[in-house]
Amino acid sequence: MELADFIDIHCHILPGLDDGPKNTAQCLDLVCCYTDVGIKRVVATPHFLPGTIWTARPRKILALIDKLQKALSDHGIQFEIIPGMEIAIQKNMGQRLAQGDYLPLGRSRTYLLEPPFEISDLNPLEPLAEFMEQDKKVILAHPERCEYFQLHPEDLRQAHGLGIAVQINCGSLFGRFGQPAQKLANQLLAWEVVDYLASDAHSAHHRRPPDGSEWNALQQLISPEILRRIAAVNPGKLLA
Ligand SMILES: [Fe+2]
Repeated sequence: MELADFIDIHCHILPGLDDGPKNTAQCLDLVCCYTDVGIKRVVATPHFLPGTIWTARPRKILALIDKLQKALSDHGIQFEIIPGMEIAIQKNMGQRLAQGDYLPLGRSRTYLLEPPFEISDLNPLEPLAEFMEQDKKVILAHPERCEYFQLHPEDLRQAHGLGIAVQINCGSLFGRFGQPAQKLANQLLAWEVVDYLASDAHSAHHRRPPDGSEWNALQQLISPEILRRIAAVNPGKLLA
């Protein structure tokens, strides 16, 4: 598949909401990283982490996307930013879910959930039951970066068998998040429990979307049919 067919379901492209672009200029620089290689659609997934300043309300995210989309079309740039969120997994998520604090990915009923990086007293899979109880689906964001899953990879495989979807980061396959994350990302690919490949891009410079040479490298690491499935087909179905 061509890089232009990649649909990125996880990136921090909205300005001023989290550790992504600080302002509209930086946001547009990141948009250019995508449009330069022909990518036409991404899901904006700002962090939602209660207890920090990264807690944008859905209304604010939707309004910001609306404004950006108008600016892009005024400049003749064809690029679609679809609303979403990267929601930190915590205890007791059911109430926030029920009251509409979380945004799903596009018009789906699927939520992108980020497990904590370090081991704590929280089993990162436990709160997911609250989503299932409300008939929602979940995608785990880069579980290969999570210490719990690095120590218990079989738990992830089992969860996948029960319908939990898995998204890995391009950068993990290049070792950008350390050797344990790289090893687990490769293990998950070998087990065929990876549903989505995403950039988790934060800027045009640091943690940027894949360019042509990185895409060539990914094509060396992932078989053509699996790459198409996790980078284009599954994201397309999710957002249909
Ligand atoms: Fe992210």
